[in-house]
Amino acid sequence: MTPGKFITLEGVDGAGKSTHIPFIADTLRARGREVLLTREPGGTALGEKLRELLLREPMCPETETLLMFAARREHLEQVIRPALARGAVVISDRFTDASFAYQCGGRGVPVAKVAQLEQWVQGDFQPDLTLLFDLPVAVSTQRLANARDPDRFEQEGADFFDRIRNAYLARAAQFPQRFRVIDSGRAIPEIQAELQAMLADV
Ligand code: TYD
Repeated sequence: MTPGKFITLEGVDGAGKSTHIPFIADTLRARGREVLLTREPGGTALGEKLRELLLREPMCPETETLLMFAARREHLEQVIRPALARGAVVISDRFTDASFAYQCGGRGVPVAKVAQLEQWVQGDFQPDLTLLFDLPVAVSTQRLANARDPDRFEQEGADFFDRIRNAYLARAAQFPQRFRVIDSGRAIPEIQAELQAMLADV
């Protein structure tokens, strides 16, 4: 059986991740792979309830971090691991790198705390491939300015997203074997050609 693959998509809000998800899924399905598209926070019935709270309800950074990992544990047990076990490609719109970027970089939660939760919730489990959609914050916040009904994260200012972008780029530098950084400021066909190459051995 073809082994399962876990691919995660990351980037600041407005960096263009959502635009490319259908293309990534179609590329892999065209090669005969079973593709499961999912997202965090969310991905399970309980996780989607936690997502609603996380995106709308005021809470302190520690609560936010704990709820992200609570949703993640459920997602891993109920959805991600079973799909990988049957050989599927699981594509998750965000995963633990988002906690390091948003909760540590954005909110100032210590990296050591998030690393402890990561170890508890997922042990040594990591994505096989992480695609980081990168864009200067001046451009991504411009895109967000047009969003209807912005959530608790989307309402934050450019400084918040600057810290998140930097935290993501630091993660990419720390784990170069699984991260691919995509310059999201280019035309869509150009990005698609690059994605196709990056997905060649999935
Ligand atoms: P997002 O994935 O951007 O969804 P949409 O495209 O529908 O806006 O929204 C999820 C938000 O949750 C995003 O602002 C980032 C945040 N988030 C964290 O802060 N930490 C995490 O660990 C995860 C998974 C997401």
